[in-house]
Formats: sequence, structure tokens, C-alpha cells
Amino acid sequence: MKRIGIMTSGGDAPGMNAAVRAVSRKALTEGLEVFGINYGFAGLVAGDIFQIDAAAVNDVIKRGGTMLYSARYPEFEKEEVQLKGIAQLNKFGIDALVVIGGDGSYHGALKLTQHGYNAIGLPGTIDNDIPYTDFTIGFDTAVNTALDAIDKLTDTAASHERTFVVEVMGRNCGDIAMWSAVAGGAADVIIPEHDYDIEKVAAKLKSARQRGQKHAIIVLAEGVMHADEFADKLSKYGDFQLRATTLGHVQRGGNPTAKDRVLASQMGAYAVELLMQGKGGLAVGIQNNKLVSHAMTDLFNSKHESHLELHQLVEDLAY
Ligand code: F6P
Repeated sequence: MKRIGIMTSGGDAPGMNAAVRAVSRKALTEGLEVFGINYGFAGLVAGDIFQIDAAAVNDVIKRGGTMLYSARYPEFEKEEVQLKGIAQLNKFGIDALVVIGGDGSYHGALKLTQHGYNAIGLPGTIDNDIPYTDFTIGFDTAVNTALDAIDKLTDTAASHERTFVVEVMGRNCGDIAMWSAVAGGAADVIIPEHDYDIEKVAAKLKSARQRGQKHAIIVLAEGVMHADEFADKLSKYGDFQLRATTLGHVQRGGNPTAKDRVLASQMGAYAVELLMQGKGGLAVGIQNNKLVSHAMTDLFNSKHESHLELHQLVEDLAY
């Protein structure tokens, strides 16, 4: 193996640049040449590829977004499109790749491995919805962004004795919601992985109001419904002075936290080590504080274990 390619694919996540830097610097340290592939699999097929030297990744560790751009490209499922990508790898002499992204990106990475070009996947998504890893790159930053908003909304909620329904991202995963709800001292958290009873939510708010706690934050995961819809339903059960806020794509941006930078650096270097051992078709994760790798095929048949213990914690602490 002489040349490796690196790409970011799917939704961007803070810390992707730190991962690009780590893969690049570790590979250069090991005497390999590194090529950046812009726009994920779409850029691979188009041949949008350039050589990365050590200076090209100077200072990117602290920058949000991805210097390699990103795209969702379902067309890569087709064999004829994959072959066009392979032709580009041959043209640039790239033997192996690191793909930073979510589940969809791993499908493309596995295809490349099956064509004989080892690819390692790194979990880059704010959603924390990838199996076999406790945390994904970008999750911690997104939680902190959501928390910053929740803290601010709590100030205004308290001043007007209002209840805010705060919708956070995460697709069908409630981890951003649960982490930001615990950290933000929310009264309740509503996630796709757990049933909720709107009458009970209302009853909780009412008894809290009777005890003198007249403002509240309810964190709602986007995978359940939209914030205004939830607020509308809740309003039928009492006068809670409701307001709905959707945080949206602000959760995808910003400088990565130290935790995301360290995680991305560790995972990026580990991916290069795996490639140097001749391995491919593996997804990197962190479990119980240890770097791990699992076959991508195992991931496709598994579900991420959401941090459901935090759901109970919100309940227990919201009294
Ligand atoms: O997967 C990351 C994510 O931000 C999800 O949380 C969200 O549902 C989705 O992407 C938004 O996608 P888009 O950026 O295409 O609107």
C-alpha cells in the first residue's frame, strides 16, 4: 500500500476535519501518500481528487464542517457507478481508503473493499446512531450546541414562566435529546425509542407548577414529531404558556469540542493502522473507552444501543 484516499460522506459533523487531519498526518508519518476526495462518493466518481501534504491540514483540527465537502450519493449503490469510482482510484494510484460518515457511507466503503480496495469507516455523524460505538465524531459538539441553546431558553422561560418544547436533531436516535436533556435539567425528554403519554407529561408540568416550578424545558427528538405539533397537542391539557423552538442545522456546525477532536484523532490514526495491517471492510468505534473495529456487515444487521439509562435519569431528576 502506497497511496490512501480519504473522504467525508453524508451529513457533515464537527470533528470531521480533525479526522481528516489525523488520517493524513498518521499516513504521512508512515511514509504513505495521501489523497483527498472531495464531495464523498460523488467526487470519487467525478475524479475530484487532490494530493494532501502535511501543511494542507494545518489548523483544520479546530474547524467545523468538512474541508473535503460532503454529499449524499445513493447512485453509488449501482455497480456501473462503483466501477467508475474504481477507475478513478486506478487513475490516481490509490490502493486503500478511509471513509468518514454514517451508515450510508459504510455501504459504499464495503463495496470498494469488495472490489479489492480496502476501506475503513469512521463514524462521523452528530446523530450517534451507529452500532458498535458508544460515541460518533460530532455528537459531543452537537450536544453542547443544543445545551447552549437550552440554557438560553431556560433564562427566558424562567422570566416569563413558560414551557419550551425544544426540538433537537438525531434522526431516529434520541441520544442528542437525552444527553442535552440531562445536562440542561429538562423536565422531560421525548424520544423515538421510548413511549410517551402526553397526559402524563401534562400532569407532571401541572404538579411542578403547583410546587412553584413554573417554567420548564421539554426536549423533543426530531424523530418523534415537530416541536410545534407537540406543543399543540400538549396545549389541549392545560395552560403551560407553551413556546416551540426547533434548533435545526445549527447543531451541525461550530468548532468541535475537545472530546470530538480527541476522538477523531484517535480514530483517524487507528484507521491508518488497520489499513497498514491489510484490513478493510471494517468500521472503527469506541466502546468502554477502547478503540474497536467491527465488520461493516455486522453493523448493517445491528442497531445502535441508545443511551436509554439517561431517559430514566431525566424522569428521576425532574421531580
Ligand atoms: O444525520 C445528520 C442530520 O443532521 C440529522 O440529524 C437530520 O435529520 C438530517 O441530517 C438533516 O439532513 P439534511 O442536512 O439533509 O437536511
